[in-house]
Amino acid sequence: MIEVDEIDVSYGSIQVLWDLSFHISEEDRVVSIVGPNGAGKSTLLRVMSGLHPVDDGTVTAWGADVATLDPSEVVKRGFVHVSEERNLFGDMTVRENLEMGAYTRRDTLEETMREVFELFPILEEREDQRAESMSGGQQQMLAIGRGLMARPKILALDEPSEGLAPQITNRVFEKIDEISEEVTVLLVEQHVHKALRLADRAYLLENGEFVTEDSGPALLESEHVKEAYL
Ligand SMILES: Nc1ncnc2c1ncn2[C@@H]1O[C@H](COP(=O)(O)OP(=O)(O)OP(=O)(O)O)[C@@H](O)[C@H]1O
Ligand SMILES: [Mg+2]
Repeated sequence: MIEVDEIDVSYGSIQVLWDLSFHISEEDRVVSIVGPNGAGKSTLLRVMSGLHPVDDGTVTAWGADVATLDPSEVVKRGFVHVSEERNLFGDMTVRENLEMGAYTRRDTLEETMREVFELFPILEEREDQRAESMSGGQQQMLAIGRGLMARPKILALDEPSEGLAPQITNRVFEKIDEISEEVTVLLVEQHVHKALRLADRAYLLENGEFVTEDSGPALLESEHVKEAYL
């Protein structure tokens, strides 16, 4: 369980999150956060991962204040964040990238790798290929697969469909739906329609504040979302 309690967050003198509260636990299936460019979605994920500090308020991961934890401790506790940039090691193979994802879980590496290959057969077919030689969609699958290698309780995906063709985007969302049967997914997206359709709980973030919280399908039907995003 991660609890975000009334946080203020800034970059230098510019505040980007305002008194924001949020929670997600392994009881959730899919929780989505949608909102425009620059709303602060990625910043929230970075703060939850312990990669960026809060000015005020607290983030608690399974009972521990994230400010006191090394980011790898947050991963070990069960929160894994696949960033927008994907951050693959381009000159390393698919298998090596997956192994890197298991740095906190060497004990279960081979077992988890089999599960990831089952979910994404293309990664097994290409396991000896360099990551940079893969297509954008395959690289996204690899980034997600690498996140799963840490055996998260909650997997946060930051704009998994970014830069992908519509057909590939659909494939990625099918996989996310499948993953959510086993692992809680926190989905951050600009593809508002797809992200809300999957979500049991969803938030609209604008200018560093949540303006609405509802079930995904209900938020999809709201006038504000229809007017501004669909
Ligand atoms: N490293 C940084 N240094 C300074 N300002 C930053 C930095 N990263 C983000 N910002 C600013 O913080 C605000 C929130 O950015 P953030 O990346 O969290 O938004 P986002 O909702 O993820 O946007 P996008 O949909 O474009 O990914 C923006 O105004 C952005 O310009
Ligand atoms: Mg972002």
